[in-house]
Amino acid sequence: MPYDPTSQSNIDELKTNHIHLDLTVDFSAKTLTGSAELELEAIADNVSKVVLDTSYIDVRSVTSNGKALQFNLAERHEKYGSALAIEMGTTLSKGTKTKVIVKYATTQDCTACQWLEPSQTVGKKYPYLFTQCQAIHARSLLPCQDSPSIKLTYSANITTPLRAVMSAVAIGEDQHAGDKTTFKFEQKQRIPSYLIALAVGNLQGREIGPRSTVWTEPEVLETAAWEFVDTENFIRTGEALLTPYDWGRYDLLVLPASFPYGGMENPCLTFVTPSLLAGDRSLVDVVAHEIAHSWMGNLVTTENWEHFWLNEGFTVFVERKIIGRMKGKEHSEFSAILGKKSLQESVDLYGQDHPFTALRPCLRGEDPDDSFSRVPYEKGFNLLYYLEKHLGGAEVFEPYLRAHVQEFAGRSINTDDWKAFLYAFMDKTFGQEKIDLLNKVDWEAWLAGTGMPPVDNRFDDTLAKACTCLCKKWDDSRQTNPPTGFAADDIKDFSSTQKVVFLEKVSELEPLPHGHLDTMDKLYELTNVRNSEIRLRWHLLCLKADYEKIYPEVVGFASSMGRMKMCRPLLRSLYKAKNGAELARETFIKHRSFFHPIAAAMIAKDLGLSK
Ligand code: BES
Ligand code: ZN
Repeated sequence: MPYDPTSQSNIDELKTNHIHLDLTVDFSAKTLTGSAELELEAIADNVSKVVLDTSYIDVRSVTSNGKALQFNLAERHEKYGSALAIEMGTTLSKGTKTKVIVKYATTQDCTACQWLEPSQTVGKKYPYLFTQCQAIHARSLLPCQDSPSIKLTYSANITTPLRAVMSAVAIGEDQHAGDKTTFKFEQKQRIPSYLIALAVGNLQGREIGPRSTVWTEPEVLETAAWEFVDTENFIRTGEALLTPYDWGRYDLLVLPASFPYGGMENPCLTFVTPSLLAGDRSLVDVVAHEIAHSWMGNLVTTENWEHFWLNEGFTVFVERKIIGRMKGKEHSEFSAILGKKSLQESVDLYGQDHPFTALRPCLRGEDPDDSFSRVPYEKGFNLLYYLEKHLGGAEVFEPYLRAHVQEFAGRSINTDDWKAFLYAFMDKTFGQEKIDLLNKVDWEAWLAGTGMPPVDNRFDDTLAKACTCLCKKWDDSRQTNPPTGFAADDIKDFSSTQKVVFLEKVSELEPLPHGHLDTMDKLYELTNVRNSEIRLRWHLLCLKADYEKIYPEVVGFASSMGRMKMCRPLLRSLYKAKNGAELARETFIKHRSFFHPIAAAMIAKDLGLSK
């Protein structure tokens, strides 16, 4: 029986096999109107009710076989929305299939949707809509069993004045009627509701590989196509490591700047932030990450958000395997070093005893967005990295990874399922020797323990050394004003990740004198850097030193970059910096409509504007 504390649907009585969406996009009203047809199957006897998750959805009618059904929209649960209880008027026995059609419209409050004014797009001429359903926002896009334990196929007809794309494959001819077109889509693989995704805007596509098109506004199409040329190589490397890529297409959609994440693994169509467009292909690891989700998360899915690490920890592990194979081991290990640092920051932010720092937290009554941090990513990665080493290296672990995908493809699993199969595979393939090793793992500490991981993995620091070295030189120079012995050439051979690590290391020191920051900026041209990851670290370093010269830059960056990884720490740091608190709040309030509803809610909490 699936368990999901963050869904109000009766997932223990029914499952959804297919959903057909028929929606019209209205940019002036900022609504989607139409219907969702759910094909349901009873998985228990005596089922008389269908309870669906909804959030801020205006339900107009519910029918089955042309007959109206009674329904009740419950009072809103603060975090989980309003349960829609539909009386079937009959009792279903186990195995019985039925269909319900819900006519509905979304409202202004639906958190899955962001409606952008033309001024908020690159081209400034056309409006834009995009959705973001992970973790529990699908319920504000459509009434559904909004739990990753339920996997379904879907199809959709989307009628709109601008091009629509979805996490599915486009089918049939587009039908034109007046100034509107109906686009048709089909997702033939079973997916969880959080992977349903839609974007509508002035979109153009350009082929970048045999199964890949990049979609974006025409103004950035060229840049985007150039940045992501390595996509096919990432997919092939993933296939060599795991199983053949099973989703047909792998397209990319580069969104407007308010997209709240780095990337989102919507099947057939990964969504990415435009902050990856660095002009030097240095930030495309995010694409390797989203491709890795094609197996980890999209094929093998977490049963509920308490086991989110099965999605993200496994994905980071595969992402770093892909990077290791393509660029060399020192690169993947370098990324692991950076990851460990970000894990430490998450642990520090929550506090080392906080329940959300456990790999498998309890989410009963919690909003998964609040528990989101680097913990499932990096603690999960560190567990798998440790297990690989402990069990005998890649020769043992890579066959296991592939078997894990083959065993669980198409299913939703929890940590116990994962562990049981790990034991079974090791036993069957290698025998008692590996079981003895597995029995030595401190499972309790890894899975339930809070704070940093119980084992401190060591990573190859070849690429980190130069960063540490230069950082020390700056630290040692603090008594000399102005600092001497530095030159632009110091970082000439640094990759952009090395620049990031250098700046992070300097951030760990006591703040440098402002004159030093002036010199560093002049030599390394940090304020004018295009690379968003470097810019972020530079701003954070300056904020920590109360270097007020940077404040206008921070305001500009934080109010035009909706990726939460960037705008949240920037606004939090500005809020804490000398004379920064009011400025941080003002900046947020002034630009509130720029931010995605999910980001706006999180920032409001960060800045003490809501609880
Ligand atoms: N699936 C996540 C994004 C996500 C997680 C959205 C939870 C909503 C709730 C995506 O795959 C991801 O992890 N993105 C990262 C990029 C990455 C390289 C670690 C991001 O957005 O920073
Ligand atoms: Zn991910």
